[in-house]
Amino acid sequence: MMKREANMPGAIVIGAGPGVGTSVAQRLAREGLTVGVIARTEATVDEALSALSDYDALGVTADVTDEVGLRDALDEIVDRFGTPELLVYNAALIQSDALGELTAQQHLDAWAVNVVGAITAATHLAPQMMQHGTGTIIITGGMPEPRPEATSLSLGKAGVRALAKLLAAAYGPAGLHVATVTIAGTVAPGTEFDPDDIAEHYWRLYTQAPEAWEHEVIHTDLRRRPAPSGASSASLPPDTDERTNGALRQSGTTVRVLLISGSSRDGSTNTAVLRTAAALAPAEIEAVLLEGLGDLPLFNPDHDAEGVPVDPAVAAMRAQVARADAILICTPEYAGALPAAIKNALEWTIGDGGTYGKPVAWINASGAAAPTGAADAHESLAKVLAYAGAEIIGDACSRIPISRNLIGEAGQVSDPEIRGQIGATLERLASAVKRTRTGDRRDD
Ligand SMILES: Cc1cc2nc3c(=O)[nH]c(=O)nc-3n(C[C@H](O)[C@H](O)[C@H](O)COP(=O)(O)O)c2cc1C
Repeated sequence: MMKREANMPGAIVIGAGPGVGTSVAQRLAREGLTVGVIARTEATVDEALSALSDYDALGVTADVTDEVGLRDALDEIVDRFGTPELLVYNAALIQSDALGELTAQQHLDAWAVNVVGAITAATHLAPQMMQHGTGTIIITGGMPEPRPEATSLSLGKAGVRALAKLLAAAYGPAGLHVATVTIAGTVAPGTEFDPDDIAEHYWRLYTQAPEAWEHEVIHTDLRRRPAPSGASSASLPPDTDERTNGALRQSGTTVRVLLISGSSRDGSTNTAVLRTAAALAPAEIEAVLLEGLGDLPLFNPDHDAEGVPVDPAVAAMRAQVARADAILICTPEYAGALPAAIKNALEWTIGDGGTYGKPVAWINASGAAAPTGAADAHESLAKVLAYAGAEIIGDACSRIPISRNLIGEAGQVSDPEIRGQIGATLERLASAVKRTRTGDRRDD
């Protein structure tokens, strides 16, 4: 039985039909990954393998709705190539059906292919992938907006989007990167939805460093971008924003909020407030705590010169800032001013313009023990943010005094009323981001 060599990472592509599945398999094989492909029929497997004839590949037939059969197929590939570093779930039942046209059983059958197979595959492989401390799971998504003529697929694609978030929450902390590639159109070679172009997203997601992980990429028709005047009726789906990375589109349904605590202290009340915000974030807000503020070197313009790579800790922090749609800060006051660590981080963000135009809010959590209510720290925070070009969202800045005895065992604020205030602050900040996206921007 041949096992994967240490320098030969492997991938498994489930749903390896002609189109995205085969293109992704080819893209990965070209980079030197061993590839196992799974498809329902022998003919599809053979076709995929002939496209992979120059590479180290294995094809196995399995119906993704057959839980035991799918697990066996995965095990067969693992036996040959070892635990994969990348799992791609691309199986889907692509059919036209309007509401009321399918029987209940037909809906369940579609759901089994579109969603349940992904659950089976991910939960089967994730435990062994986590043992390696690294790995990527990518699910092919679609239909950023439900389409009435494709009801079962719209439901399935909404399902895998939610599933990816659940998998990310479950496995992300152990080092697995979970993402969806949402294809907002019909795949066809030579069009804006060329499968080879789409396959690039999978490769890029697989090679992302943890600090730059994206969780959803939307591939859409770049020709349908709204005209600069905004007059075009052929526009991007309403939940797609304009930030772009080559041909990539990022979802506008999710608001990514980076949480920055000004205190590195174990048991910090400020960090506890932000941890609480992260825990309360609803599905459409991805709130992530910035780690390692204290690991940043002291800002020195000489170490931030054009063309010179910055310190890796700075690069990682900048990547997190760049990825965020907004920033929520919670900081104590030290010696009558902003703590040096957070000011230092903000100084580093000025160099790459990371905070320029970025919506930022804060929660001032200083408690009764703070004589000035940390007013000086927040005054200087506002001043530094202004220098950094950030957009301070006034109606999302809150004063929520917290005393240390309000922090529960999970390192979160336990008081329900205060939790509500923290959650509301986060949502006000996210609303400001959404207003910007829809152009309904307020000037207050
Ligand atoms: C060296 C030092 C200086 C401080 N200076 C101030 C201050 O000027 N104003 C203030 O309101 N609190 C001050 N504090 C109190 C902190 O703001 C307070 O301990 C706060 O809870 C720290 O936040 P944390 O729990 O998130 O670490 C100071 C604390 C330390 C250790």
